[in-house]
Amino acid sequence: MSNVWLGHKMLRSLVFVFVFFCLTNCQIPPFVEECVDNAYPPPESHKVPTYVVNLDLPPAQRWTHVVKDRGPQIKKLLDEFKSFSSDIFNGSQAVINFIDKEGPAFDQTLPQPFADEMRGIANATGLKLGEVVFFNVFYEFFTVCTSIVARDVQGSLYHARNLDFGLFLGWDIKNNTWSVTELLRPMVIIVDFQKGGETVFKSVNFAGYIGILTAIKPKLFTLTMNERFSKDGGYIGLMEWILGERSGQWMGFLTRQVMETATGYLEAKVLVTNKEMLAPAYFILGGNKTSGLYKQGCVITRARERAIDVWDMESANGWYILETNYDHWSTPLFLDDRRTPAHHCMGNMTQQGVSIKGLHNVLSSRPVLNKLTTYTALMQVDSGHLEAWLQYCPEPCIPW
Ligand SMILES: *[C@@H]1O[C@H](CO)[C@@H](O)[C@H](O)[C@H]1NC(C)=O
Ligand SMILES: *[C@@H]1O[C@H](CO)[C@@H](O)[C@H](O)[C@H]1NC(C)=O
Ligand SMILES: *[C@@H]1O[C@H](CO)[C@@H](O)[C@H](O)[C@H]1NC(C)=O
Ligand SMILES: *[C@@H]1O[C@H](CO)[C@@H](O)[C@H](O)[C@H]1NC(C)=O
Repeated sequence: MSNVWLGHKMLRSLVFVFVFFCLTNCQIPPFVEECVDNAYPPPESHKVPTYVVNLDLPPAQRWTHVVKDRGPQIKKLLDEFKSFSSDIFNGSQAVINFIDKEGPAFDQTLPQPFADEMRGIANATGLKLGEVVFFNVFYEFFTVCTSIVARDVQGSLYHARNLDFGLFLGWDIKNNTWSVTELLRPMVIIVDFQKGGETVFKSVNFAGYIGILTAIKPKLFTLTMNERFSKDGGYIGLMEWILGERSGQWMGFLTRQVMETATGYLEAKVLVTNKEMLAPAYFILGGNKTSGLYKQGCVITRARERAIDVWDMESANGWYILETNYDHWSTPLFLDDRRTPAHHCMGNMTQQGVSIKGLHNVLSSRPVLNKLTTYTALMQVDSGHLEAWLQYCPEPCIPW
């Protein structure tokens, strides 16, 4: 128990140190921008490229074409990450060394096919397995986001999200940017997971990451994950897992299994509600049905063991549901309120404006868009459409 509180205190003190640092050094513009209405379409150069990953191949070969030239990029990102996260992880290099020393023994405790996929990535990039494993777990932390499921006037469901990543990970005073966020942007890819030459599901990933943070199963459902900060913090779960207590699942692997196996919204909902995980999280789920009694959109608030709350679209707003990184029944941290501006811009857009373009505009309005934003993803379940755009926040822009 003392570990848990220590972790929580550490995160809190980090926030305060950073805020103090920022009050004296950062230029935080004290303003909330009007909702933009001209951010779509973004320039072609911001378009995220697509790769096919063939699930019929042996796991060790699936990612080779995606990662083979990216070893140095992943390495640089890991080094940057390690240099800023040592306070939190208490020596992430020690974790990597431990994984490498344990080697095959450790390997066998990783669930398949993920163990072989990561081994294949290590082989293709020349990275150590420990480094690939570490790269695959750190998205369970520091992922600060905004997700929205919305229904247009005809009843079609859209699901959109910003993925903001890199909080506390290296503020570059000269450039007014987060170093990890900057390094991540060129790694953003769309992955089309196929079996028998047909799309099973599509996701937006960072090259080298094999879990799922944003995905669509065409015609059936859409899923995004936002981090949930909690005193029951994820890094405690990670430590326990490394030390041998393996009852919980990695969030990213759970979501990947859900995308591969669930045959609809309700089945996906049961899976992400009940499976024990390493870290708390929010799952935002959209289905394909908005007529009749149940509109298929919800936010699932997760503790490590199971959901503590399931919030359905009809009890949220009726035509949309929105989640950032705070429990919907409590107020956001005053320094980090992206929720109020996002609601404001949804209201300004109205249900008549729900579309790929409308949602992209909402997610491009500062501070919903901020210096941590790596990409905006936009999905429409019936058509199976997924598109993603790299985001850069023009000055003046707040750091998170
Ligand atoms: C709301 O939308 C209208 C256009 O419909 C625009 O003129 C107005 O500036 C918007 N308000 C805000 C606060 O963005
Ligand atoms: C590692 O990659 C090489 C090709 O670069 C391949 O021949 C070999 O089979 C791979 N090893 C494993 C364990 O996948
Ligand atoms: C800051 O930005 C400039 C140009 O955008 C770039 O060349 C430089 O490498 C950046 N500095 C750091 C420390 O990232
Ligand atoms: C909607 O999803 C259900 C499963 O939840 C599926 O049976 C049904 O075929 C889907 N509808 C369409 C139009 O694809």
